[in-house]
Amino acid sequence: MSSIPTIETDRLTLRPFTPSDAPEIIRLAGERSIADTSEVPHPYTLVDALDWIDLHRGAFVRNEELQLAVVRRSDSLLVGSVSLQAVFTGHQAELGYWIGHPFWGNGYATEACRAVVAWGFDQFDLIRIHACHLTRNPASGRVLEKVGMRLEGVSPKHFLKWGIPEDISFWGILRE
Ligand SMILES: CC(C)(COP(=O)(O)OP(=O)(O)OC[C@H]1O[C@@H](n2cnc3c(N)ncnc32)[C@H](O)[C@@H]1OP(=O)(O)O)[C@@H](O)C(=O)NCCC(=O)NCCS
Repeated sequence: MSSIPTIETDRLTLRPFTPSDAPEIIRLAGERSIADTSEVPHPYTLVDALDWIDLHRGAFVRNEELQLAVVRRSDSLLVGSVSLQAVFTGHQAELGYWIGHPFWGNGYATEACRAVVAWGFDQFDLIRIHACHLTRNPASGRVLEKVGMRLEGVSPKHFLKWGIPEDISFWGILRE
């Protein structure tokens, strides 16, 4: 596939990011509440956002990564981001996501993740998709549970966040 796809869900359009999204990305993803439970850099600058968007097409063409903007269709607002990163191409991919703080609790992460998981199984013949989150971030676990993933285990002190080793919960879903 040569161009990043657009995926429609009931309320959302998942589409490629463009440089014009950069100011809104830093406004939403630049909040500490996003960086606190994700790998989004903090502070997050306009240059960071533009450099990140610039990588998307090449990474997609190389089958390494799908990065999509999560846009609310009713008002075309950017509400977040969802990604699928190849771990072993054609076998396994990792799901990633963030939703801007003003939009939490509306089911947007669940709706976007569900669509991308279905797309990944459909397009890439994947055997397995997994995701992980800081164990102290149960909202993320709930999203994965609603998407149909199963908790596979907790790895104690697996990830260094703000210099502190934290537990990580691992979730996965198999094609069957
Ligand atoms: C985690 C995150 C993506 C959730 O986005 P969202 O759009 O609010 O998620 P949804 O509305 O689809 O679902 C959230 C679920 O978590 C639940 N939830 C929220 N806070 C919770 C908490 N403290 N404990 C348990 N469940 C919680 C909600 O009630 C909802 O479940 P429900 O539909 O059964 O009521 C969002 O908070 C976020 O982007 N956080 C910062 C970045 C991040 O952590 N990304 C994930 C990295 S692994």
